[in-house]
Amino acid sequence: MPIVLLAIESSCDDTAAAVVCDGRVLSNCVANQEMHRQYGGVVPEVASRAHQANIVPVVDLALRQAGIATSDLSAIAFTRGPGLMGSLLVGSSFAKGLALALDVPLLEVNHMQAHVLAHFAEEPHPPFPFLCLTVSGGHTQIIRVTDYHQQEVLGETLDDAAGEAFDKSGKLLGLGYPAGPEIDRLAREGKPVFPFPEPAIEGLNFSYSGIKTSILYFLRARQKENPQFIEENLADLCASIQHSIVGILLKKLRKATRETGIKHVAIAGGVSANSALREGLQELGLKEGLTTYIPRFEYCTDNAAMIGIAGYYQYLRGEFAEHDVAPYAR
Ligand code: KG4
Ligand code: ZN
Repeated sequence: MPIVLLAIESSCDDTAAAVVCDGRVLSNCVANQEMHRQYGGVVPEVASRAHQANIVPVVDLALRQAGIATSDLSAIAFTRGPGLMGSLLVGSSFAKGLALALDVPLLEVNHMQAHVLAHFAEEPHPPFPFLCLTVSGGHTQIIRVTDYHQQEVLGETLDDAAGEAFDKSGKLLGLGYPAGPEIDRLAREGKPVFPFPEPAIEGLNFSYSGIKTSILYFLRARQKENPQFIEENLADLCASIQHSIVGILLKKLRKATRETGIKHVAIAGGVSANSALREGLQELGLKEGLTTYIPRFEYCTDNAAMIGIAGYYQYLRGEFAEHDVAPYAR
């Protein structure tokens, strides 16, 4: 009998559902919540309400695209955390209700571990052990992955995430939310001529709140002399910001590969869509003799396929959840 999972992801602002059969993705659907753009960030209350409205249509679409009936399902996998509590509650309550109605088991999945396991949605996937840099609007971590269920955090951010640094810096430049993709696009026309100081953080941890502050002070000083400074230097500012943020990521990743001796390196999360990071990782791979893995964009950002993949390996190990399992924000 094939193992057919319906997976639900609702940790932040995207409502996502996927069907995964024997670890293979049959469908991967997502309803984006564009309304947060006007607020300059994700508004938790608005996000939960939109999940509530989107979840049934998205699940329905995922089942139809996969050609799967609810009676074919072996189990329901859902994101337990970390994420926004109101958002997580919508997905987990839906998953529990459906599992109860269909009398199938529940699988509770950790969102961060699932980002890493998204690499198993496609071939070729990295062999164990490998390192994964997970970078998004909410997380920045270097993980040592030794098995489907064994992930060790070697380093992580002590304050802001890398995606947050992109978004907050972009806001200072007057760009819309999320600013990461816009900075990436504008940076192609500019040069990294403005040096922003690198935080002195030992080991494999990161700190990104300082960059935002130094950009703020830098812009204030320059705008005093020239009120048009941002407009006249937008591309160079974007290139400089991107150069700083990505430079730190790559430096720590290189340190991690040297310290662990691990030669297979992957990236995951929304920021892995960044062209400078992708190119930088490939260059690093050539220089240091590493094999690098960059997933397709739909598996980089928040998606339910990754929850289904993680759920599949938990299913094989018989790791099912009780119905009183509660979401966790952190
Ligand atoms: O993984 P994701 O879709 O959602 C979570 O935060 O979990 O990541 C979103 C983040 C945002 O901060 C966005 O600005 C950033 O990924 N991002 C980018 C790019 N595309 C998305 N940052 C830099 N360059 C990009 N091309
Ligand atoms: Zn995420």
